[in-house]
Amino acid sequence: MVTTRLVLHSRFAVGEVSPLIFGGFLEHLGRSIYQGVYDPQSSHADADGMRTDVIEALRELALTVVRYPGGNFASGYHWRDGIGPRESRPAVRELAWQSLEPNTFGTDEFIALCRKLDWQPMIAVNLGTGSPEEARDWVEYCNAPTGTRDADLRSANGSPVPHAVPFWCLGNEMDGPWQLGHVPAEQYAIRAQQAAKMMKDVDRGIATVACGSSAPGMPTFLEWDRNVLEHLGALADYVSLHRYVGNPNDSPEDYLALSNSIDRQIEAVDACTRYVQERLRLPKRAYLCFDEWNVWYRARGGVHSDGRGRFAPHLIEERYNLEDALVVAIFLMSFIRHADSVKIANLAQLVNVIGPLLTRRDDLLKQSIFYAFRMVSARKAGVSLRGAVDGSGYTSERYGAVNYLDHAAVLDGDRLHVFAVNRHVEDAMQLTVECADREIAGVADSEILHADLKAENTFDEPEVVTAREFGGWVTNGNAVADLPPHAFVATTFRMA
Ligand code: AHR
Repeated sequence: MVTTRLVLHSRFAVGEVSPLIFGGFLEHLGRSIYQGVYDPQSSHADADGMRTDVIEALRELALTVVRYPGGNFASGYHWRDGIGPRESRPAVRELAWQSLEPNTFGTDEFIALCRKLDWQPMIAVNLGTGSPEEARDWVEYCNAPTGTRDADLRSANGSPVPHAVPFWCLGNEMDGPWQLGHVPAEQYAIRAQQAAKMMKDVDRGIATVACGSSAPGMPTFLEWDRNVLEHLGALADYVSLHRYVGNPNDSPEDYLALSNSIDRQIEAVDACTRYVQERLRLPKRAYLCFDEWNVWYRARGGVHSDGRGRFAPHLIEERYNLEDALVVAIFLMSFIRHADSVKIANLAQLVNVIGPLLTRRDDLLKQSIFYAFRMVSARKAGVSLRGAVDGSGYTSERYGAVNYLDHAAVLDGDRLHVFAVNRHVEDAMQLTVECADREIAGVADSEILHADLKAENTFDEPEVVTAREFGGWVTNGNAVADLPPHAFVATTFRMA
């Protein structure tokens, strides 16, 4: 048994946790939209063709903002194809995922879904094969009051009241050679600047997300971001970060030490935004929008990303186990620890495609990562506290030294949310949580995610990895519990 103390103080605050870090992502990719959220043929379909079973499961995740329509898809998408009467929408050849796109789901359907689930919409415009003017027109279609061409078109399509889309991504992964319309940083920066200027001229209230480099392993990392942010200046409200991780060498010790690398990615991009702010003497810096993140390494490349011209092919349908769920918790805890810089984050994606949910005809499966996300998202409100950890650790081959405890803490008035992963793969951890200036009076609720490291949910056995009530805490001013090895515990304490 390892022993660890987590010491907090209610005044050692990092910043308010942005509710927008509990976002998601829906792309026209594989069965994410079609056979995912939208399936008029399903016995679960509502009057709008949306799957009510999927909607109810997504509601449990308490998502706040959802990005759409891609992803790589966005760079070949022309939004006018996806509006108006369905019978006159074109079916098109989709190049990013080599699929058939019927366009029966588009902007208005996405907004309707957002309204059902109380999500804030986030739209990624096409800066690959599209023009800045097309992006400008999309903002007018969504956000302008009636009286001009595109706003009147929206009204004619059934929505006289503007959709009021607050967040707009200026393209997607434009530094990647795989991206349709990929260009060097200088050229992207010009496109993005032209688009952002016109988009904000249409609606001054929108916030823009500039494409950052698409992964820390890219040769473009940081230099692209600096270049683009310097060119955009105050026209970029956020810069995007993307990260997909995995355990290809089957080393849980390495995998669970990933937090070091996620922290570094965030801190490096944040340093870049601070540099640009000072150099350009901007009143505020661009904040971080981690608009794609997840575990994704098994269902990659080849047959997983080539739809061979089909409609709703099975693409990148990753299956998740317990260790993946621990890593999802590790991502979220890192975002919380960086509450002063990470203001938006989107789990990529939501249904079927690298998703917490999987559909099989009319059945629905909640994967392990569903529970990790829900456990944190249910405790999102408050101020992130800086914690001091006193305990042993280990040195992982890929990511260096870590403590056995990975954690985050959020104070919400008389409630303290504490998130803890015991990374020890064999030993339990006796964890003591203390708040130096306040007493922990008791436990409001506590949940644990624990199973074999490789255990996963299947349609036959859907509840192998699921959040269960955790009754292990003893509170007496402090709180003490024994956490099993490789487990995630999320707790809300009552404070005196
Ligand atoms: O989420 C799947 C893909 O990953 C997205 O389309 C792209 O932006 C990223 O490379």
